[in-house]
Amino acid sequence: MSGALPELPERFFVHAHVGGKLLPVGVVERTGRAWPPVQRGLRFRYGKRWLDSVDTDSFEIDPINLPFGSGWIPAPADTEIHGAFRDAGPDGWGQELIRKRWVDRQIGMVEILLSGAGERTGLLGFSTDTSGRSAHDSIDAEPIELEELLRISDAIQENEAAPPEIARLLGHGSSLGGARPKAGFRHKHALWVAKFPHREDDIDVQKAEAACLDMAEAIGIVTPAREVVEVRGAGNAPRTILLVKRFDRIETDNGAVRLAYLSAETVLGRTGGTYNSTLRYGDLMAIATRLGHAAVGAGGAGPEIFRRLLLNVVVHNTDDHLRNHAFIRAGGKWRLSPVFDVVPQAPGNDQMALGLVRTRFPTIAEAIEAARTLALDDEEASASAANALPVLARWREFMAKRGVVDADMRRLAPRFAEIDRWASDHGSARKPKPSSSSSGPSL
Ligand SMILES: Nc1ncnc2c1ncn2[C@@H]1O[C@H](COP(=O)(O)OP(=O)(O)OP(=O)(O)O)[C@@H](O)[C@H]1O
Ligand SMILES: [Mg+2]
Repeated sequence: MSGALPELPERFFVHAHVGGKLLPVGVVERTGRAWPPVQRGLRFRYGKRWLDSVDTDSFEIDPINLPFGSGWIPAPADTEIHGAFRDAGPDGWGQELIRKRWVDRQIGMVEILLSGAGERTGLLGFSTDTSGRSAHDSIDAEPIELEELLRISDAIQENEAAPPEIARLLGHGSSLGGARPKAGFRHKHALWVAKFPHREDDIDVQKAEAACLDMAEAIGIVTPAREVVEVRGAGNAPRTILLVKRFDRIETDNGAVRLAYLSAETVLGRTGGTYNSTLRYGDLMAIATRLGHAAVGAGGAGPEIFRRLLLNVVVHNTDDHLRNHAFIRAGGKWRLSPVFDVVPQAPGNDQMALGLVRTRFPTIAEAIEAARTLALDDEEASASAANALPVLARWREFMAKRGVVDADMRRLAPRFAEIDRWASDHGSARKPKPSSSSSGPSL
């Protein structure tokens, strides 16, 4: 990655890491001009080999937008590339690294995907040759310490990173989505996302995010493993890094199995923007079931999305945009991915990205009302809320357990105002009832 950024080709090949092999999936052709990227006129077609192996390894890599039997499928209007491919590549942070590394180049998503490094999201690879040789990606083989990753992340944010340092971080972090500084990191024989502080943070976001994931787990939401690591930064100051275990990889004795990944933005056909959509949690539910995630019952999409909605409302995570919900394919089935990126947003950011029922304001009452758009009847919704809210009301304990300091706790308090009111109305904040589903930290 740190070497060359490829020129825009007329066509390139999509591959998938399946069953320990790299299989050709199909081809993307350019029918338009090179620049700007939205005018590239990209179109995708599955290859015969992939279509012929339907009963064995292959599958529709986006069952909604890239179904089998469609011939050439153009990229959605006003976008450069199909969402399923874009989901494999970086967003704001990774793209910024790439643009800083190659300041003189005009760079679209095709060049970024073809440059491949840093363990892409999901199982797709991209290559200008049919062999797929360059479709392999991996984290920079040279081991790196978290302190060093953090130091470079800080330097990049201050515009002080030297090109070799940017290249180094690119090898570790360019493929991950999201806007915040991050890198891929090998830890305990697995791949993790390392999330670093952002220069504009007003609290220790990493600790708060870890606590929110703990709260998620405590109310039965599917969560990835996470750890908060303190390292010494500039001037020996203690700094915090959040490690979240990658859920699109399953470590085995024969290496990592990769799982297919699609963002909610992609499957909902909203490739033009993650915010300001007219979509609601009910639409997330509808697409989850269309992808095959059972609506009801244990592990059903309805109860799971309802718990996530309650969590987002209670912790004031209004940044619940369409790339912060996703699907993975495991055991031949698409289902909601484990939850990620749950962070209390500053007051002022008071509308959710996804609508509830009538509004986007995060209120418990409206979340409960939204349950009926999630295939839950009133009784189920009440029971789920009665289980979750007393646990979430203990947010201070969860934060304290992760080492959130008093000053941050005071800054966080207005974001948790509604659950505090709910707790004093219900007299439950001081009488915690441990959740039976909790396998998170004991509180
Ligand atoms: N545990 C995980 N396993 C695999 N992929 C993950 C995991 N956590 C996050 N991701 C992927 O990385 C992307 C960025 O992660 P995340 O949303 O946590 O970062 P962020 O920079 O805080 O995002 P945002 O821009 O929404 O604030 C996600 O959109 C998702 O594709
Ligand atoms: Mg995110």
